[in-house]
Amino acid sequence: VAESGLDLTPEQMRELGYAAVDAVVDHLSTLRDGPTFSPPPPDLAERIVEPVPEDGSNPVELLGWLRAEVLSAGVRNHHPGMFAFIPVAPTFPGVVADMLAAGMNVFAGSFQSGPGASVVELEVLGWFRELLGLAPAADGVIASGGSTANLVGLAAGRDRRPDGGADRVAYTTSEAHSSVARALKLLGMDRVREVAMDERFRMRPDALAEAMAADAAAGLTPWCVVAAAGTTNTGAVDDLPALRRVADEHRAWLHVDAAYGGFLALTERGRAAMPGLDLADTLVLDAHKSLYCPLLAGIVYARDGADLERTFTVRPAYLKDMDHYGGVNFADRGIELSRPFRALKVWLTVKTFGMREIRAALDRSLDLGQLAARLIGESPRLDLVTGPSLGIVNFRSTAGVAVERMMAEVISAGAYISATTVNGERTARICALGHRSDEVALRSVIEAAAGAD
Ligand SMILES: Cc1ncc(COP(=O)(O)O)c(C=O)c1O
Repeated sequence: VAESGLDLTPEQMRELGYAAVDAVVDHLSTLRDGPTFSPPPPDLAERIVEPVPEDGSNPVELLGWLRAEVLSAGVRNHHPGMFAFIPVAPTFPGVVADMLAAGMNVFAGSFQSGPGASVVELEVLGWFRELLGLAPAADGVIASGGSTANLVGLAAGRDRRPDGGADRVAYTTSEAHSSVARALKLLGMDRVREVAMDERFRMRPDALAEAMAADAAAGLTPWCVVAAAGTTNTGAVDDLPALRRVADEHRAWLHVDAAYGGFLALTERGRAAMPGLDLADTLVLDAHKSLYCPLLAGIVYARDGADLERTFTVRPAYLKDMDHYGGVNFADRGIELSRPFRALKVWLTVKTFGMREIRAALDRSLDLGQLAARLIGESPRLDLVTGPSLGIVNFRSTAGVAVERMMAEVISAGAYISATTVNGERTARICALGHRSDEVALRSVIEAAAGAD
């Protein structure tokens, strides 16, 4: 019997829940039959928007309408043909973990409310601390996305250098993810220098040293170096050990944005490509990108885990009892008080498949990046512009075919790639990160792009 007007009976809950699971399973098992990208119909809003209903309706019946009208258009980020932007391909156990966390209504902000969630989040963070070779004192939090994780890490860094006040300067490159500039702006850190890069889009340590010295000589405080381990555009990895040395000369913070590619360091090749992740004062890695979790799970580690709590702990009167049961309150490590049990999707993904299978999927991405570069190199109609680096390549047409034409051909072939700008030139870009993407899908993308005219 339903207990409130907003409860369903157990039978109704099962019917709706099973129908939703059936919808997801049906979607995933027929994914390959449909396109990667369906453009939105011009009348999308008219088809969706209705007056707010005064009376309810059967949610099982609404599911069919939702699938047809709301959930059908757009980019299928988890499709095998998805090579655009950053592909995000969650595993089914990860999806179920999100449903469980929501269904059990776990509040993962305090140990008292969600003690199991707190322990699992610590466990998950501990796994990757070890696997990525981070410092023993490193600890973190699973924030929402990489954008939030960058904000959280940079906030901790700002608070460790209060001495410079408004004279603190941050150093990054023009290839840094846009969320870095936004985070710095939100933090009020307006003095930002774009440091020169080498021909592979890596921050030049000598140029950084020069810029920091000039600022110090002018009475400013070189505060923070924001480096990347896998830029979004080209997969470029900054020379972290060299940047660390330069930063140390000025007691500056080193924040490393490895949101896109960080977990590729779980493979041998990825680790060799990204030495020095352990040198970051704060490090960002998105589990919804290179760890196959559903949106969102942006992890930020601080090399000294206590730095996060130093910045974020607050105890208003209504939360004074939060510490009664001991344990870690994850609300103390980031900007959210109420927060979902995000660690569960990471935990269930890793537990279900094991690291061997996850590593194999990451290795396939690196293989596909190499294959893409080879196929482009072999094509008389295509020219490699960057890569492969962490599964990303950029290319152009040798025949002067516009990137938009190549993209249109790829979309017609049922796959999807995106475009960007490299050295002022508009390029077509492939990012191989989805675990379903394979050689067949990649070859068809390259063939379609090469065939464009
Ligand atoms: C390098 C890098 N940093 C940060 C972000 C932002 O992450 P999110 O989209 O999860 O906020 C991205 C997203 O693609 C990224 O590639």
